[in-house]
Amino acid sequence: MDKLIIEGGLKLKGGVQVSGSKNAVLPILAATLLTDDACIIKGVPNLRDTNTMLKILRSLGKNVEFDKGIVTVSSSKKLGFIADYKLVSSMRASFCVLGPLLAKLKKAKVSLPGGCIIGIRPVDLHLKGLRGLGADINVETGYVLAKAPKLKGASIYLGGVYGSSVLATGNVMMASTLALGKTIIESSACEPEVADLAEFLIKMGAKIRGQGTPIIEIEGVRHLHGATHTIIPDRIEAATLLIAALITESDVLIKNALPKHLGAIIDKLEEAGASLDKTDNSIHVRPLKKLNAVNITTLPYPGFPTDVQAQIMALMSVTLGTSIITEKIYPDRFMHVAELNRMGAYIQREGPYAIVNGVRELSGAPVMASDLRASACLVLAGLASRGKTIVSRIYHLERGYENLEGKLESLGARIWREKE
Ligand code: EPZ
Repeated sequence: MDKLIIEGGLKLKGGVQVSGSKNAVLPILAATLLTDDACIIKGVPNLRDTNTMLKILRSLGKNVEFDKGIVTVSSSKKLGFIADYKLVSSMRASFCVLGPLLAKLKKAKVSLPGGCIIGIRPVDLHLKGLRGLGADINVETGYVLAKAPKLKGASIYLGGVYGSSVLATGNVMMASTLALGKTIIESSACEPEVADLAEFLIKMGAKIRGQGTPIIEIEGVRHLHGATHTIIPDRIEAATLLIAALITESDVLIKNALPKHLGAIIDKLEEAGASLDKTDNSIHVRPLKKLNAVNITTLPYPGFPTDVQAQIMALMSVTLGTSIITEKIYPDRFMHVAELNRMGAYIQREGPYAIVNGVRELSGAPVMASDLRASACLVLAGLASRGKTIVSRIYHLERGYENLEGKLESLGARIWREKE
């Protein structure tokens, strides 16, 4: 296992390019199961999670090539219908092969994804949606067994206790593309990654309207063909890089970042006093003045994303004043609090609330990554700390960030990797 060493206190400078979106590419790769034709996906980030999904496609019988950001998926033999435990349990997003396999093969056996450190991660909405399309679903020995001689379009309400579900919307939308008749998904997730999946499915011949809104309509078709698609930029990585610039009070140009996908984040950072010059596909951060503390509540899109909660907590921990951070999507997503406090932050946790009392400076320390976004938070805190921070277990970081340390180093950060 590797660790990252960060010598903090340095300003960053220059430009950095955001990679393709992890949370868009994973369901889009699953969607290639809906056709026997070749599909070409461009702008694919080279991540641990991307490669896990490619392994799953290969285990199901697909031919997969991945070179210089371009994935080519094709078929040469009969598709398998079993997605096994060891791959699915390592990445929750693998569960979104269920809908495509069921639609294409009329049956599927997919391991239940384990929970993870940020929450129990249920799949009740996925199963509710597929049952709504007429699938016969059983759960046994840790697997979901789904059968459907013919999926039939239906009106399906997918709102859950915590609002909409991104991957449940994806699973049901993919399954309904080959169902008989019309499907209406109510309280569908509005995330840009769901809209990007719909765009790819439409290029494959699917009939979909309303993507990016809480009501998506799908008219089933008999067959989907191959397609070529370029993945949208990763808005969560863009937000992470924005916060890297702000936490080091630097002048940085974030390229391939779409302000139209970052509304809540830009609004919150500007409320804190950040000066952000925006074009359609870039954001220039200028270090004009000290920031002020702001309160944050995470919500489904277009609300403030839970995937940026840990990162903005790092920023608030060195912003004078008190910031109350409320986590409405994963109330336990606070593993980073203890690690930040070890670096000198002053954060109290009360259930789904974290009360962040900003301090003048953090001090570098050995810390441990626990999940993807908590790892990013610790890297950001390390950039702003006096002294050296050692972030261990950075395989968590590699799941969702393509060469983050290389990107930060190109901006002047003193950050390097060592063996544990
Ligand atoms: C997606 O996960 C993202 N992952 C997550 O990003 C992100 O945090 C999450 O959406 C919320 O935005 C991918 O897209 C690969 P959900 P997903 O279903 O779809 C509850 C990252 O860091 N729920 O939208 O699995 C659930 O417990 C990752 O990149 C049910 O109750 O999340 C949560 O509270 C982490 N029943 C809420 O809904 C269900 O059947 C939102 O979860 C499904 C979910």
